[in-house]
Amino acid sequence: MESSLPGLEAILLVGGQGTRLRPLTLGTPKPLLPTAGVPFLAHQLARAHSFGVRRIVFATSYKAAMFEPAFGDGSAFGLSLEYMTEETPLGTGGAIRNAAEALTAAPSDPVLVLNGDILSGHDIGDQVRTHIARGAAVTLHLTEVDDPTRFGCVPTDGDGRVTAFLEKTPNPVTNRINAGCYVFTRSVIDRIPRGEVVSVERETFPGLIESGELVLGYADRTYWLDVGTPSAFVRGSRDLVLGRLASPALPGPAGEYLALDGSDVSPEAKVNGGSAVGAGAVVEAGAVVSGSVLSDGCVVCSEATVVDSVIGRGARVCSGTVVRDAVIGDGAVVGPGNELQAGVRVWPGVELPERAVRYSSDL
Ligand code: GTP
Repeated sequence: MESSLPGLEAILLVGGQGTRLRPLTLGTPKPLLPTAGVPFLAHQLARAHSFGVRRIVFATSYKAAMFEPAFGDGSAFGLSLEYMTEETPLGTGGAIRNAAEALTAAPSDPVLVLNGDILSGHDIGDQVRTHIARGAAVTLHLTEVDDPTRFGCVPTDGDGRVTAFLEKTPNPVTNRINAGCYVFTRSVIDRIPRGEVVSVERETFPGLIESGELVLGYADRTYWLDVGTPSAFVRGSRDLVLGRLASPALPGPAGEYLALDGSDVSPEAKVNGGSAVGAGAVVEAGAVVSGSVLSDGCVVCSEATVVDSVIGRGARVCSGTVVRDAVIGDGAVVGPGNELQAGVRVWPGVELPERAVRYSSDL
């Protein structure tokens, strides 16, 4: 059962450039991309709050100025938010060290650190309590994936002690990977060099293991998703809308689709599969939209089909066009009768004429 930890402080890592999600991240940082009707981070903030976190420091860098207008002082979430910006990106470890300047936690207190691009259903309260009970330096949430070759893998011994932090390898020794949610003892953060570029994955964690400190793994098999790629991002939004991962921040009941106020979905359109329809977005009669994210103000015209895709703000998918497993950038126009598939990305503002692309292999 989930349990609350009043007074716990957290650092949220939100300074990455999100290169794998371009062109969506050219204008908006990944943590602010609309996901199931709200900025992605809203789901993490609401979830952290549900475990008793009341104060969060954002470690910002890329497009740092966009965060405070989106979340302000945090009172809408029952949180107190601080913003700490790196002039130049300091990597995950340097960012944690920089953000720690705004913490009030004592040296022996636990501090929660979250990657800003993870959806997770695990029990944060249990992770923190395990950390305290074992007196660990750091406790890492570990998740199991079918194909660990794309991730660094994290083997543990019988007591849960992390024995190595291994980079991506074609022959992983375990399918347990770093799930991007850490509990640090505050004094361990203070030992990270200040103002320097440091990676926790490549430097801090291996260094702690090397010097014999207790780095603990907290493994579980609950819902977990890194939304760093377009297909994962779409899947995350879809899973939230469908209720596969419960989120207190979902702006409506879970179901086949979520349409924000001010959207206009024709009763003769078919919208399902966990699609999210943004404010001012229009889905015309005869259109089919499944498992997709329609950003604010975009238009899916009559008889168009959009499946497992992201349509950017103000973009237009014209009549009879098929968009499948693709990303259409903000303000782009895909003319009538096109067929875009298999990971195609249309850059913001681009206008594709009528019947310019029939198959993705034509590009
Ligand atoms: P890609 O460029 O697509 O790999 O995405 P990313 O920039 O988000 O990188 P990655 O997924 O490896 O980052 C993991 C987490 O750390 C994300 O929440 C990033 O926002 C964050 N992050 C990565 N580098 C930095 C940094 O230099 N500063 C800060 N503040 N956060 C960072």
